[in-house]
Amino acid sequence: MDGSIPTPQAAPGAPLRLGVLLSGRGSNFLAIAENIRSGQLPGVEIAVTVSNVADAPGLAAARQLGLATETLVSKGRPRAQHDDDVIACLRQHRVDLVVLAGYMRLLSPGFLFAFPNRILNIHPSLLPAFPGLDAQQQAFDYGVQLAGCTVHFVDEHLDHGVIILQRAIPVLPTDDAHSLADRILAQEHIAYSEAIARVASGQYELRGRRYVLRTKVELA
Ligand code: GRF
Repeated sequence: MDGSIPTPQAAPGAPLRLGVLLSGRGSNFLAIAENIRSGQLPGVEIAVTVSNVADAPGLAAARQLGLATETLVSKGRPRAQHDDDVIACLRQHRVDLVVLAGYMRLLSPGFLFAFPNRILNIHPSLLPAFPGLDAQQQAFDYGVQLAGCTVHFVDEHLDHGVIILQRAIPVLPTDDAHSLADRILAQEHIAYSEAIARVASGQYELRGRRYVLRTKVELA
């Protein structure tokens, strides 16, 4: 990735359209939806919320908010076939930016190719520490004194793409893995919207592994 590769842009004068993918409770999705509703994330709208799990609470919450939802059950289907259906769905809803919010699936190469530098993920650790499952427990067991979350572009490796932003918190002497996870989640709810705002602003660019604010001269 380099600065010449475009990052997501909305059509001129139109809001940036998000396609949110989730598999479970959907608290990050709800935080984003609330920030859009309250005007804290201007120029952004949720085009569709997609779940690979029919009874995901996040999907029910999206329906209650009156948002467009799609259920595309992945269980028992080849990855590429399922992903092709998700890609078609996202295209049908004219999605500019794909937001993984507790989407418990690895994406096929075809998915990455269909949305280059247009897929975000949030991970509950300060990457590159503790990729994979149970990141908060991993961090707690390791004995770190700083924990947090990372919003990053998705690439072909797990929890690896270019970092958009991170938020850190101290691990308290009174913490256990659950209280730590709760406090990290509160940071996730802030971080994801901040990262989306950064991408939507069009003022950042990829320079190698860095996602940086363009200078005023370059913006002019
Ligand atoms: C979050 O901890 C997120 O970092 C991870 O999956 C969890 C999803 O939680 N990728 P929710 O469904 O958004 O509440």
